[in-house]
Amino acid sequence: MITGRALSQNSAPLRQSYLFHLDNLSVEFGASPALKSVQLTIYPGEILFVTGPSGAGKTTLLNVLAGYTEPTSGKAVLPFMRSEKHFVSTVFQDLRLLNRKTCEENLWLAYDSGVYASKTDFYQEMESLTRYLGIQSCLGKKMEDCNGGLKQKMAMVRALLCKPTALLADEPTSSLDKDNSYKLFELLNHYNQKKGLTLVWATHNKELIKQFPGKIAHLDQGRLVYSGHACFI
Ligand SMILES: Nc1ncnc2c1ncn2[C@@H]1O[C@H](COP(=O)(O)OP(=O)(O)OP(=O)(O)O)[C@@H](O)[C@H]1O
Ligand SMILES: [Mg+2]
Repeated sequence: MITGRALSQNSAPLRQSYLFHLDNLSVEFGASPALKSVQLTIYPGEILFVTGPSGAGKTTLLNVLAGYTEPTSGKAVLPFMRSEKHFVSTVFQDLRLLNRKTCEENLWLAYDSGVYASKTDFYQEMESLTRYLGIQSCLGKKMEDCNGGLKQKMAMVRALLCKPTALLADEPTSSLDKDNSYKLFELLNHYNQKKGLTLVWATHNKELIKQFPGKIAHLDQGRLVYSGHACFI
């Protein structure tokens, strides 16, 4: 894994190994900039809420962190891409679920024999997560028959079943009411506290941010205008 000292000579040494580092990074689509000169470092075990108005660049930022979008200038240093120790799960707005399959079949896509000691272990984890979210009885349902909220929960469970080091989530509670959003985030907060899950969460939900400890990266027209503790919003 690359340490902070492997950064460009212009950058100050970083305090520990990071999971994501964006160095003066810009992304342009044609002539229009989506991210402008963004400087951001995310360390293991952090919770980072990415906020900002519509079109501010939140989704673009998450795509860069996931390695899906290349910068136009500057650089994205993503050590997890070269490390077998780290795995990054994503839950993006399109959810990437297989509609013709059942919920359980979709969840089994997360099974990896290198990660779980047995299929029984995986199944128990699946049961425990779906029971906690109150969706265990829906496992046999076809995904195409599920409502948006249930799909978001299933996508989140599938992401967690991959046992990621970090989870990148793009407005994953947009179809959920307040109580369900809170419950889902409580689950992720538990993974953060107990298993050190790094969480990057793009959201408009200020109430949720106030409930949980974490940092904020606030974007406005592609610029990172605030980066720091959430208590200042
Ligand atoms: N693939 C693309 N092609 C062209 N322009 C794009 C593309 N993706 C994003 N943009 C533009 O980049 C800017 C940032 O978009 P982005 O989707 O990252 O914003 P956002 O903060 O996620 O918005 P929202 O809150 O509506 O999801 C917008 O002006 C958008 O139109
Ligand atoms: Mg978006």
